[in-house]
Amino acid sequence: MKNQLIRSSLFIALAVLAGCGSNSTDNSAQVASAQVAAGKDVFLNETFGNEKFFGDTLGLHTVLNGVAPKDAVALGVQVDLNKVPADIVAVMTGSDLAAKDAALNDPTVTRRLIKAGAVIGVKGFYATTSASDTTLTSVGISCGLCHVTVKPTTFNLTAGATTLPIGDPLYNGVPNAEMDAGKILSFTPFAVANNLSTTLAGWGPGRFDIRALNELDDGVDNPTAFPPLWNFPALQANGYALGWDGMFKGTNALASIAEAVYDLVMHGNGSFATSHGAIPPALAFPPRQAVLNKFQDNPASVITADKLLQVQTFLQSLQSPAAIGFDQTQAAAGKNLFEGKAKCATCHPAGTEFISAGRYSDITVTPPTGDLAGGIKVPGLRGISLTAPYFHDNSAATLLDVVNRFDTRDALGLTDAEKTQLVEYLKSL
Ligand code: HEC
Ligand code: HEC
Repeated sequence: MKNQLIRSSLFIALAVLAGCGSNSTDNSAQVASAQVAAGKDVFLNETFGNEKFFGDTLGLHTVLNGVAPKDAVALGVQVDLNKVPADIVAVMTGSDLAAKDAALNDPTVTRRLIKAGAVIGVKGFYATTSASDTTLTSVGISCGLCHVTVKPTTFNLTAGATTLPIGDPLYNGVPNAEMDAGKILSFTPFAVANNLSTTLAGWGPGRFDIRALNELDDGVDNPTAFPPLWNFPALQANGYALGWDGMFKGTNALASIAEAVYDLVMHGNGSFATSHGAIPPALAFPPRQAVLNKFQDNPASVITADKLLQVQTFLQSLQSPAAIGFDQTQAAAGKNLFEGKAKCATCHPAGTEFISAGRYSDITVTPPTGDLAGGIKVPGLRGISLTAPYFHDNSAATLLDVVNRFDTRDALGLTDAEKTQLVEYLKSL
């Protein structure tokens, strides 16, 4: 009897424990995935009012109203096929080659794509609520513009099989290396009137000067590469600092850099690092005083802590994919070189997600200038085969170019075979 009691109460206790356990796991998993979904939505769609800058000030909408889809995609615009209006999908997947060419040359099609929300990172504003009104009166941008790509689709055109960035969005953290944001902005009435077009067009795809056109302006032309957004929990556990200069670090550093980008770089209606800011800035070191002086307090800020933390949770969910397509034997030999003769592991130790403290100004042939002159942090190396070109200034087109750069810089004396082995190892990370 006694035994039975003990056994049944034990059973109840276990059942309660198991029940509680699985419930709380389910709930927290649900909450976490809801946060990820909410953060993704903010990341993709939220402008926080930056249409006042991109539309009203720069006049970007006047450019987009007249650009043909083929020119837009050539400038790196990514199109979410799931949101393309059905009649346009029908034309593009049909067999009438002339109709496809016509659609790709028709600015009306671009306007309809923007209105349908199919152009990633671009949000249109209109004078009327009429469904047929596709003429932009203003336009805002979201984080997705530079940090999201799609799985491209190959279309049969009169010119033959042509692969275009129209497809399923990937949301995998790979940067949009084709996005030529500077060139797009170079066509705006503001850039033309202020003689900025040549500078902007010179940035090239996959780069943006976040220290220009805003309070962060450092007076030099130093566009930087869009980095991949992944593996943050593991990187941050090893002391990772965000930004090429490593300015953002510590608790809520991702939410903090998001606030800085939304408010300062993207000109949203915010108040970074002032009394109406959404969250305390997570800075490894402060910006220079002249920049700090320009930060404006803004009681009307619409950038809220909850949305920044959602974006942070979304970014924390992104992982670089498992490596594929490398030669195992060569990679094993490359690992030995990486940790030995080639000295890579002195700055990129494997046990710390390939990062270490310290900033360097002598890795690229042309040293970083302006507010980057203090040096570039050591970036992580996972997923590196997916994120060409390399270095903060995109100065290395391939992984072999990277290895060649270190071979020269550190007088490593690597043979061609050893360089290949190192590249295969990098592809395996
Ligand atoms: C116009 C293109 C563009 C847009 C839009 C953009 N970014 Fe970036 N992002 C960049 C560039 C360029 C850098 C590197 C800047 C630097 O450090 O010099 C960067 C860096 C980052 C980093 C640092 C990653 C690391 O490992 O160091 C994070 C995080 C980030 N962006 C998140 C965001 C978020 C969140 C948004 C929206 C609020 C956003 N970005 C919008 C271009 C863009
Ligand atoms: C002295 C420290 C140091 C050493 C040694 C070093 N790296 Fe790096 N590595 C860095 C820094 C700092 C950067 C970023 C430099 C920049 O962008 O200006 C970098 C960038 C890279 C990148 C490009 C990352 C990206 O996202 O663009 C790769 C790949 C890389 N290193 C691989 C290697 C390999 C392979 C070796 C050995 C042959 C090596 N590194 C040796 C510090 C180092």
